[in-house]
Amino acid sequence: MCGIVGYVGDEQAAPILLDGLRRLEYRGYDSAGVAVHDDGRIELVRAVGKLRNLEKALTENPLTGTVGVGHTRWATHGRPSEINAHPHIAGPIAVVHNGIIENHLELRQELEADGFGMSSDTDTEIVAHLVHRETKAGRDLLDAVRRALAQVEGTYAIAVLSTEQVDRVIVAKNASPLVIGVSREAMYCASDIPALLPYTDEMLFLEDDEIAVLEATRFSLSTLEGAPVERETQRISWSPVMAEKAGYKHFMLKEIFEQPRALEDTLRGRLDRESADVNALEIGLTDEDAKKIERVVLLACGTSHHATVAGRYWIEELTGLQAIAELASEFRGRDAVIGEGDLVIAVSQSGETIDTLMAAREAKQKGAKVLAIANVIGSAIPRMADASFYTHAGPEIGVASTKCFMAQLANLLMFSIWLGRRRGAVDDAQATEIVEGLARVPHLIEERLQSTHESIKDLMRTFADAHDVLFLGRGLSFPMALEGALKLKEISYVHAEGYAAGEMKHGPIALLDAHVPVIVLLPRDRHYDRSLSNLQEARAREAKIIAITVEGDSQAQALCDAFVEIAPTHEALTPFVSVVPLQLYAYCVADHKGTDVDQPRNLAKTVTVE
Ligand code: F6R
Repeated sequence: MCGIVGYVGDEQAAPILLDGLRRLEYRGYDSAGVAVHDDGRIELVRAVGKLRNLEKALTENPLTGTVGVGHTRWATHGRPSEINAHPHIAGPIAVVHNGIIENHLELRQELEADGFGMSSDTDTEIVAHLVHRETKAGRDLLDAVRRALAQVEGTYAIAVLSTEQVDRVIVAKNASPLVIGVSREAMYCASDIPALLPYTDEMLFLEDDEIAVLEATRFSLSTLEGAPVERETQRISWSPVMAEKAGYKHFMLKEIFEQPRALEDTLRGRLDRESADVNALEIGLTDEDAKKIERVVLLACGTSHHATVAGRYWIEELTGLQAIAELASEFRGRDAVIGEGDLVIAVSQSGETIDTLMAAREAKQKGAKVLAIANVIGSAIPRMADASFYTHAGPEIGVASTKCFMAQLANLLMFSIWLGRRRGAVDDAQATEIVEGLARVPHLIEERLQSTHESIKDLMRTFADAHDVLFLGRGLSFPMALEGALKLKEISYVHAEGYAAGEMKHGPIALLDAHVPVIVLLPRDRHYDRSLSNLQEARAREAKIIAITVEGDSQAQALCDAFVEIAPTHEALTPFVSVVPLQLYAYCVADHKGTDVDQPRNLAKTVTVE
């Protein structure tokens, strides 16, 4: 996630901006930059990679001035490069931005037709040009920013400088966070509290659709429509480490709670609710390409592999094509049969996993088309692929993947709908139900997160000392059972197995006794009755049963030692809601045991060894 900082005061701005950016590093970034007012001009320094590169560039090219903005960029539109790094300049205007401008393509065309030349591939530069167009029409900076934002759809936190009003920074927000730091001598702004803690503990959190003018000794706040807003500042007593995690004990928990937002950002601008379809222009595959696909092969490792198993089920159901979900590490070195007519979907949070990269490369060499689903823009897998469909979950810091898994599920389901529509395999009614349901999923997750966390914290104590745990699911719940078991293993070091519920009687049933908790996924889908029978088979062996049930399912709940309720959804959407309690279960057990949740032993976030 991008990080913004801004300063208006009487000290040199650049060192304060750089220090603020350092304190936002935990948000993840691939490039950075600062812009400072210097003698009537805006001077800009940007660099790709770590902040030390920006620091070096600033040493070679020092900026003097007491008003400025800084930015760490996590690429969402346009690969990491100096040109795409923020701040973006248009005439007298400099802008830094966190968020996604949904209608950027349309606005880009319009601005280009009006003679505004673009120098980057970003959605942010559009905002700079929109503000410039308004100032050219004679408006002052505040009015120009207001009018520019009225043309924008999507999410943003922005900070804007202008050489025409050099004593101020304008900030505004919609959905993305922005906090103002207030002191006697200076005003600050940032995406997050830690950037400001060394300078002030007096802060004001900007609300959606609010805009503020920051000057050295005062600030004014109003709505985007121009109504003045009066709000008291707050005193923040957080330690810097607490602040980085937004008060959560671990990044993993923070990321579990960020899932509604990660999903919303990933769905944004892609779900076409009007025609019950998916807008996948960015993928660059034509309707003709869609019709030529004969088979889909999904390649991934670990948690991403579990997303692809769900993807396989969706593709088969919604497109009628054969789909296979292969472990990338097993695909390699066995002379797998693949070639023209096959679409390979390589799924990877990091976009760098060596097994996935090499497997996809082999498939490409053999004639298959490769589509990458990755979270890191410009990473190795999208670079080698023929096309990319990025997840927009923001950077994931916890080693155990949670919000990126959620976003991968979203992209796989969206791609299945897109392909199914192109091939005439999904009718309007089915597509409408799924598209409408998917649009509501972030809300369904959000409204239960807190209560699910509380109830799992409670129920987990009874089972936390178990040495073995079995997770069972059928259909789309099978990959969620795999994922629940992997999460528990990797962060709490408890032995866990994810099993297709129907397979239990072919082996794992021998393990069951009163000491083995069995977590059964029981959404109200076509598999419900058979899964319930499996639950009863486990119960008959005295296993302790924890069921993940749809709310109010008294039939299943009566058969369990404990249960967690999930929201009812269309059956295609059950993975989104049922994986959340499994993530929280793993988290609560690990926290109870006191393991290093964010950096479990022996694991790495990006696996670049075979
Ligand atoms: C588990 C986890 C790993 C990754 C795997 C693939 O929580 O995160 O299993 O899913 O290492 O990584 P990516 O998705 O980066 O290819």
